[in-house]
Amino acid sequence: MSDFEWELIATNDEIDGKQRLSVIVDDTPALLIQLGSFWYVMEDVCTHDGQPLTDGEIIDGEIKCPRHGARFDIKTGVPKCMPATQPIRIFEVSVREDGLYSRPYSEKDLKSMQETNELEEIEGEGASESPSLVPLDLNPPEPESSELNLDERGLPNETAMLDALKTVIDPELFVNIVDLGLIYDISRKEENENEVVLTMTLTSPACPAGPQLISQAKAALESLPGVNEAEIKMTLSPPWAPEMMTEEARDQLGIF
Ligand code: FES
Repeated sequence: MSDFEWELIATNDEIDGKQRLSVIVDDTPALLIQLGSFWYVMEDVCTHDGQPLTDGEIIDGEIKCPRHGARFDIKTGVPKCMPATQPIRIFEVSVREDGLYSRPYSEKDLKSMQETNELEEIEGEGASESPSLVPLDLNPPEPESSELNLDERGLPNETAMLDALKTVIDPELFVNIVDLGLIYDISRKEENENEVVLTMTLTSPACPAGPQLISQAKAALESLPGVNEAEIKMTLSPPWAPEMMTEEARDQLGIF
């Protein structure tokens, strides 16, 4: 049971004829959404990279982030597809004579609701364990030298370098950084053919896996014969978008 006080978030006049409304609960910008004859309140922020969900499309009980397409269950706040991995905070709603009231759930109730929903989702997909339990592999396997694509100088060509980078897996999305569309450019330095420059991005500026992905990408390239040093240049221009992923990656993440 929540210890928080109920607060009036919308009068009957304010919600008349509407199915969603921006409200404030517990000093937090939130979205009031009607599904059938029930009302739900969720914090108005995508947990992937802070985009407001105010104008997000609502489909089958889920709201879609307008920025990168993550979807969240409106009743529980649980993420339903990548790139979001963390649930959105939701609030309790009470319909009263003068309008709608809301308050934060107790931490225990919230955890229990969101864990139950996550479990159902994982079981439904036939997964064996929570993705968050999969450890980050800091030592990507070296590609077989016999499979290397070489250029006319006998050095690994772009295909070989991209194959090496495909061993680097985003630990939150479980897709390699090439198929995710994070690689923008790869070239050899003119002054030294044994040094390469990789220009890459991240799915968001706040991506917590950024440092690991950068060091793994560098290690993967430097594991190739003929690559003595790999310089990694990070850029957020253009910003990453789901359209940059390969079709396989989109299928894997359930983004259409
Ligand atoms: S900000 Fe919402 S999916 Fe990236």
